[in-house]
Formats: sequence, structure tokens, C-alpha cells
Amino acid sequence: MSSLFWLEGRIALVTGASRGLGFAVAEALAAHGAHVILNARNARLLEEAAGRLTGQGYHAERLPFDVTDADAAVDAVERIREVHGRLDILVNNAGIQLRKPLLEWSDAEFEKILSANLVACFRLAREAARLMLAQGAGRIINMGSVTGFLARGSIHAYVAAKTGLHGLTRSLAAELGPRGILVNAIAPGFFATDMNEALVADREFSGWVERRTPLGRWGASHELGGAAVFLASDAASYVNGHILVVDGGLAATM
Ligand SMILES: NC(=O)c1ccc[n+]([C@@H]2O[C@H](COP(=O)([O-])OP(=O)(O)OC[C@H]3O[C@@H](n4cnc5c(N)ncnc54)[C@H](OP(=O)(O)O)[C@@H]3O)[C@@H](O)[C@H]2O)c1
Repeated sequence: MSSLFWLEGRIALVTGASRGLGFAVAEALAAHGAHVILNARNARLLEEAAGRLTGQGYHAERLPFDVTDADAAVDAVERIREVHGRLDILVNNAGIQLRKPLLEWSDAEFEKILSANLVACFRLAREAARLMLAQGAGRIINMGSVTGFLARGSIHAYVAAKTGLHGLTRSLAAELGPRGILVNAIAPGFFATDMNEALVADREFSGWVERRTPLGRWGASHELGGAAVFLASDAASYVNGHILVVDGGLAATM
């Protein structure tokens, strides 16, 4: 395998890695030699996910915590420092969704989505940066969305959070890039994961996704792993502040 993409010896924390896109990213990083620390809240599902990786001979462990719990997030990064002495790659992937008409949204619901999809990413990036600045190197990859460019109604907080996360990616890139930490985001289009279970089952919505996406279908989770490997690897050594769209061509077309 080309050494450009080889991640052996790198320690990677992937949030929201028990299933969906987070698991696919963790699996791809592990397959390219990284030691992957998988995070999510449900400890049992996380153990199964980590087991699927170690079962393939990859280096993986689990670190359950809620990314919206500030103390738990700070403690988690500190634990990584104690155990591994470093953190090379942070993938801020954990995220949640809520869909309903504007007038039904409460302030608390809006803030909950922002807390998980944006504030938690800021906090973990800051804590990871403490280690990465001491190392003089690191990669932070935020899981954005095409909804950071193109809005849909009913998912107001999600659109606000992902747009904010794209902006946060750029501000972190500006401050941390000169010190060896590259910060980028991935903006997936429509992927068939648990988050979108109801939409995949909805024939009308699914048909719209298929017509709207030039590749004519939903993305499969494994199709996102390569983007994360690229951004985590030496192949992306001059890529900073970039939002890498992985959407089958959706955002490029009308
Ligand atoms: N699927 C898509 O089409 C799509 C498109 C654009 C962007 N994205 C983004 O990609 C990311 C992953 O999406 P997905 O579709 O894979 O979602 P998913 O299937 O719903 O998986 C979400 C993962 O995040 C974890 N999680 C949720 N809240 C958490 C919290 N507070 N703390 C720690 N872990 C938490 C979940 O495990 P627990 O519930 O056990 O915590 C699970 O592992 C999200 O940021 C999402 O916004 C997805």
C-alpha cells in the first residue's frame, strides 16, 4: 500500500463510531494501520463495533462517553493522553437530527441539536489541540454536511449547526494550521444510515434523493471512509480548511 495513505502508529479518536458513517470511518482508518479509539454513548453497541474491527486484526479500543457532557469529553482526551501519550487524529463525527415544522421547535430542542453537532465538536477540537500542539502535528476532521451549503426546511438546528461547523473548520484551520495541525471537514450528501432510516423507507423521499443525486442513489457508509483516510494521511499534507463534499454530485448540480 502507498505510504502516502498509510496511518500506522497514528492514534485516532472517532466519535459516534458505533454505527453508520462513524463506524465506516473508524474501519477505514484502522484498515490503513491507525489505532482507532471508538466513541459513542451505548457501551454495548460500541463494544460490538470495536470487536468487529479487532476481529479483522485491526487495532481498536472503545471509549464510551456522551460528547455533549463537557466533563466527560475533557476526561476522555486526558485518558487518551495517559494511555497513549498522544492523539494524532480526531474525527468529530457524532451527530443527531430532528425534523419538524418551525413552529413546533422549542428553544431546548434547537439548543440540543447545536450542542451535539457543533458545541461538542468545538470542545473536543480544543481538547485534542492541547495534545496536538504539544506534538506539533495533528489532524482534525469534522463531519459536516451538504446541508452546510444547501438548506432543507424542518431541520433548522441541523442546518445551522452544520453551517457553523464548516465555519469552525475554517477558523480552526487558520489558527492551528501554522502550528502543524490541519483541520478539514467532510460534507456527506444522503447516506443510508440509521439517522435516515425513515427517509430511506419513505418511497417519495427516496425517489427524490435518487433523482436529485447524479449518481442516482443513496450513498453507502463505506463510500465515506476513503475521504477520511485521505484527510488524515500524508496525502493531504497541504490540505487545510477544506470542506470535502462526498455526495454523488448532488451539491454540484441543480
Ligand atoms: N447519514 C447521512 O446521510 C449524513 C449526511 C450528512 C452528514 N451526516 C453526519 O454524519 C455523522 C454520522 O451520521 P450517521 O448517519 O452515521 O448517524 P447515525 O447512524 O445516527 O449514528 C450516529 C452515531 O453517533 C453516536 N452519537 C449520537 N449522539 C452522541 C453523543 N451525544 N455522544 C456520543 N456519540 C453519539 C451514535 O451512538 P449512540 O447513540 O450510542 O451514542 C452513533 O454511533 C453525523 O454528524 C451526521 O450529521 C450524515
